[in-house]
Amino acid sequence: MLTAEEIREIEIEAEHYPKREAVCIDALKIVQRHRGWVSDESVRDIAEHLGMSATDVDSIATFYNLIFRRPVGRHVVMVCDSVSCWIMGYERIRAHLRERLGIEHGQTTSDDRFTMLPIVCLGCCDHAPAMMVDGDLHSDLSPQNIDSALEKYK
Ligand code: FES
Repeated sequence: MLTAEEIREIEIEAEHYPKREAVCIDALKIVQRHRGWVSDESVRDIAEHLGMSATDVDSIATFYNLIFRRPVGRHVVMVCDSVSCWIMGYERIRAHLRERLGIEHGQTTSDDRFTMLPIVCLGCCDHAPAMMVDGDLHSDLSPQNIDSALEKYK
């Protein structure tokens, strides 16, 4: 069930669109911000609230890789695996993260601190390799600066 606050925020966004379906991605983002991820139940609740089918909401949710359809850790590390980052050392960066966090892509650390996921180009190819942690961009990565970058995420 959507909370009163989630509904309030969705309705504020809905005022900007001519059709209720158009607010779907905003509704998904709002629910994710409150709950950390979007469950099947939340997909059904959003669909009901917007007068859409759950299948349509789910197809939108799964199209966007920043909508998490499974539980994630407190912080999500998204590692760019597009061409510039590959050339500039993606494999070394991923190997370091794998060793440091003890997880593969798609997994969460046992303390729920980090989830690691791949992502396409983050738009800072001239500062590759790059990753994004929550909303923060980290570029010109090296094993040394990765360790210090991760320290601030508790
Ligand atoms: S390829 Fe990684 S930021 Fe563009």
